[in-house]
Amino acid sequence: MTGVLVTGGTGKTGRELVSLLRGQGVPVRVASRNPAADDPDAIRFDWDDPATHPAALAGQDRVFVVPPGQSLDPMPSVGPFLAQAQRLGVRKVVLLGSSIPLAPRAPELAAQVRAQPGGVVLRPSGFMQNFLSPHPLGERIRRDGEIRTAAGDGRVGWIDVRDIAAAAAALLTDLDAVPGDQRDHLLTGPQALSYPEAAAIITAGTGRPVRVVHASADQQAAELRAAGIPAQFAAILAAADAGVRPGREDEVSTAVLDLTGQPPRSFTQFVQEHAARWAAPAA
Ligand SMILES: NC(=O)c1ccc[n+]([C@@H]2O[C@H](COP(=O)([O-])OP(=O)(O)OC[C@H]3O[C@@H](n4cnc5c(N)ncnc54)[C@H](OP(=O)(O)O)[C@@H]3O)[C@@H](O)[C@H]2O)c1
Repeated sequence: MTGVLVTGGTGKTGRELVSLLRGQGVPVRVASRNPAADDPDAIRFDWDDPATHPAALAGQDRVFVVPPGQSLDPMPSVGPFLAQAQRLGVRKVVLLGSSIPLAPRAPELAAQVRAQPGGVVLRPSGFMQNFLSPHPLGERIRRDGEIRTAAGDGRVGWIDVRDIAAAAAALLTDLDAVPGDQRDHLLTGPQALSYPEAAAIITAGTGRPVRVVHASADQQAAELRAAGIPAQFAAILAAADAGVRPGREDEVSTAVLDLTGQPPRSFTQFVQEHAARWAAPAA
């Protein structure tokens, strides 16, 4: 049997991808450290436990790779997994990368995927879903009606994870060979927006005022640590936020439309669909 192994299959992007593939009748295997007992397609998979990798890969000819989230070095776990996938006959690998590589060795991982036959790297911009709880950004908006950021007025090409999943589904349902120049896609929404612009759209869409408090990268790192993010990773995230200020993320691409035939969702549309999620908590 062939099908798609979806690592991170319970995460924001992975579960949307699973749903899209199932809708198209594509067999899926949903990888998780805690596989759902009532899902016959769920399998136990842990990046930190290589003994779980062969059974997850067995019989699958395509893989969606979501590297371990807050790992500073994904290479020791994902590198051998990719080599093993190739040995076992996997024909297509789609990596969920990032427009700004966070882990120091993330570019090396992306290069390994691009070098593999059938390997494609998706580099999404910031997720619109970060504005929803339980992400620390969304949690602060919900709790305090506030965004704290070191990004100033720098813009980000925010993308809805459903559009990332749609792009991944398009790639994973096409088993043709991938030309070298189509192995890397920057994925963004239709418009780059600063935090003050995003806050204004949430305010207009919900009626709840959302203010932006400008912070330094150090203050931002402290916020993230307080939200439970490990210190080294909090520092990396805060530096990435500060990197937005001079315009590092101020770009949009046509990749979602090119890959899926559908334009990506706008932030305004995202806010309309999720307006109830920003209701102030009861006093
Ligand atoms: N947030 C952003 O703005 C942004 C922008 C660009 C790129 N990205 C990238 O997107 C990725 C996050 O994707 P997402 O938001 O879809 O994920 P997510 O919702 O945060 O979920 C993470 C997924 O990874 C799985 N996972 C975590 N640790 C694991 C481990 N040790 N072994 C196996 N599975 C593990 C989790 O599965 P279980 O808990 O079920 O095991 C879960 O399905 C990150 O790699 C990040 O760099 C994020």
